[in-house]
Amino acid sequence: MTSGRSFYITTPIYYPSDLPHIGHGYTTVAVDTLARWHRQAGDDTWMLTGTDEHGQKMLRAAAANGVTPQEWVDKLVTESWFPLLETLDVANDDFIRTTQPRHEERVQQFVEALHDRGYIYAGEYEALYCVGCEEFKPEAEIVDGTGPFEGLKVCAIHSKPLELLQEKNYFFKLSEFQDRLLELYKTEPDFVRPESARNEVVSFVRSGLKDLSISRSAFDWGITVPWDPSHVIYVWVDALLNYATAVGYGTDPAEFERRWPAFHVVGKDILRFHAVIWPAMLMAAGLDVPRGVFAHGWLLVGGEKMSKSKLTGIAPTEITDVFGSDAYRYYFLSAIAFGQDGSFSWEDLSARYQAELANGFGNLGSRTVAMIAKYFDGVVPAPAAYTDGDRAIQKIVADAATTADQAIERFRIDEAIAAIWTIVDALNGYITENEPWALAKDEAQHERLGTVLYTAAEGLRALAVLLSPVMPGSTAKLWAALGAEESLGALVAQPIRAAGGWGVLRPGSVVTALSPLFPRVEQA
Ligand code: MSP
Repeated sequence: MTSGRSFYITTPIYYPSDLPHIGHGYTTVAVDTLARWHRQAGDDTWMLTGTDEHGQKMLRAAAANGVTPQEWVDKLVTESWFPLLETLDVANDDFIRTTQPRHEERVQQFVEALHDRGYIYAGEYEALYCVGCEEFKPEAEIVDGTGPFEGLKVCAIHSKPLELLQEKNYFFKLSEFQDRLLELYKTEPDFVRPESARNEVVSFVRSGLKDLSISRSAFDWGITVPWDPSHVIYVWVDALLNYATAVGYGTDPAEFERRWPAFHVVGKDILRFHAVIWPAMLMAAGLDVPRGVFAHGWLLVGGEKMSKSKLTGIAPTEITDVFGSDAYRYYFLSAIAFGQDGSFSWEDLSARYQAELANGFGNLGSRTVAMIAKYFDGVVPAPAAYTDGDRAIQKIVADAATTADQAIERFRIDEAIAAIWTIVDALNGYITENEPWALAKDEAQHERLGTVLYTAAEGLRALAVLLSPVMPGSTAKLWAALGAEESLGALVAQPIRAAGGWGVLRPGSVVTALSPLFPRVEQA
């Protein structure tokens, strides 16, 4: 059911040396939700995620654990990173590892092409390197150390000492792309989103670009530079290329043509790599630049950016074991404006779980299905004459579906969920006002009762379709309980851009009991 419109979306590829934490999970579920939405809209969708396995950081961690780097990454990827996708119910189409031959060979081909085109030269280099960032640090991100690092220069992000590196390196002529990049940001104002990220990138590029060191010779855990085997390719150049190698760059022109260019969703910490270096690399190779880069904010825990180096890492399973994967997805995607920083707290998560998921959405589903079972022997009644109040619900559903789709186009998942939630709130109010339990006591009101319950059930049908990209598990349960599977087919096959239409759920569908979608949580 694809419309032919390509929608290729990526997460960053994660360093497997860190254990997955809720920050990684956040990016991944956001991308998965956008991909599921587009897939359900009939777009020719492809979602890519993966792991970034080369570099000095990985080499040191492996050495510290007494194994080879390949053994080390294999273990981490299998034990921690593949399972993360199950934990969060992610439906990725592919998973790329930068140690796979399909990637390594094509990276060599790419840098060779840049070399042939005259964009790479050899030079001397001396600068301060942060192994945590895998980056030579610009002046602005170098600070004086404190405590045990007193007297040393440390990285502003990792608060760890920087290393002075002096090497012969190969350089990419990034400085030549300043004008073309500025032109790109101008002609395609949505290339970098949100606005704050765009402004940051534009002023960074305006202030001037230096050529980029793209090889290292002090260690060998990386992809060999094809014309000089004493060097390996800088890990960021290697990593960025995953987006192209995974969809057939250099091997499968038809696939590459079909998928490329991609949308990249990244944390704002790695925005410049994606919005400056990566498009310049593509321009140098004569390839299309990405369709866009969306930078989301940081998750803060206790006011600090959450990362393992600051010891505040929370594993996604700590949340999903208690609340389930749908609640994880819903919470992070609805509670934080996509593009801004957001604070995580257990109190906020619990409160929203109870109020919005259990009492709001879950209860609406359970009681509607229970009333159809009780008053209509489990058969969805046909609506009779609609009142203005009923028609108001129909309009809310139609408007919510349109607003949500427009919000998703802008990558604003939080706004899409807020729009969809107007249906939950309106239906709960509608049931309270119409008091079906009172109508049920009066035989003369039987037809009216049928219209009210059809309205509630049809509203739930729309909710199941619209929320399925966000909460695939609970919406599938609701879909089955509404008896919709039989007459309408699988939930994920429902065209999402038509979800706001009315009268889709067939009267006569047979409902089945719905166990609580969001059961009460016993908190320690
Ligand atoms: N390997 C590089 C990316 C290469 S992409 C070609 C890397 N990896 S990482 O494991 O450090 O993951 C970075 C990404 O994880 C961030 O860009 C962001 O998407 C996510 N997050 C990591 N910590 C986060 C928070 N505290 N908050 C939100 N997202 C976080 O950088």
